[in-house]
Amino acid sequence: MSDNREYVEWSDAYSMNIKIIDDQHKGLLNFVNELFNHVTGNEWEEEEYFKEVIHKAVQYIKDHFQTEEKLMLATKFSGYEEHKKAHDEFTLIVIKSVKDFEAGKPLVLRKFAHYLKNWVLAHIAVQDVQYAAYFRKIATRKADGRLTITKEDLARIRNEGQ
Ligand SMILES: [Fe+2]
Repeated sequence: MSDNREYVEWSDAYSMNIKIIDDQHKGLLNFVNELFNHVTGNEWEEEEYFKEVIHKAVQYIKDHFQTEEKLMLATKFSGYEEHKKAHDEFTLIVIKSVKDFEAGKPLVLRKFAHYLKNWVLAHIAVQDVQYAAYFRKIATRKADGRLTITKEDLARIRNEGQ
């Protein structure tokens, strides 16, 4: 079965340079790898595992989206609506597959993991990077080289918007 396991390795290319977001993206990709770890080809085993972890995973995904959305709102990111829409659509798709599974539809763990992996990587590469670029533009560089959004940055953004 190992040929069916498309493990994903964290790369700096995925970094948004926003620690909390990077940590959560790493968490999501770890979950993808955990799913692939449990692709055994044994339907019963795979479904038992899915049952055990999926509700916590859905909550993790929702919390992650909320973190991003709060940041986008606080910094008045103009792409907020579109980005939130992508989050909402994906959440609905995941919830639907969980409901279908709970209603008795067979689950192919490999397919679910594959879908999750592709969505997360594409979303990071296409949508999260837009926010990250905006963040770099408005943030302040600290003495240690890290970017941070200060209270002053937020005040400036609010004033510019008026
Ligand atoms: Fe996002």
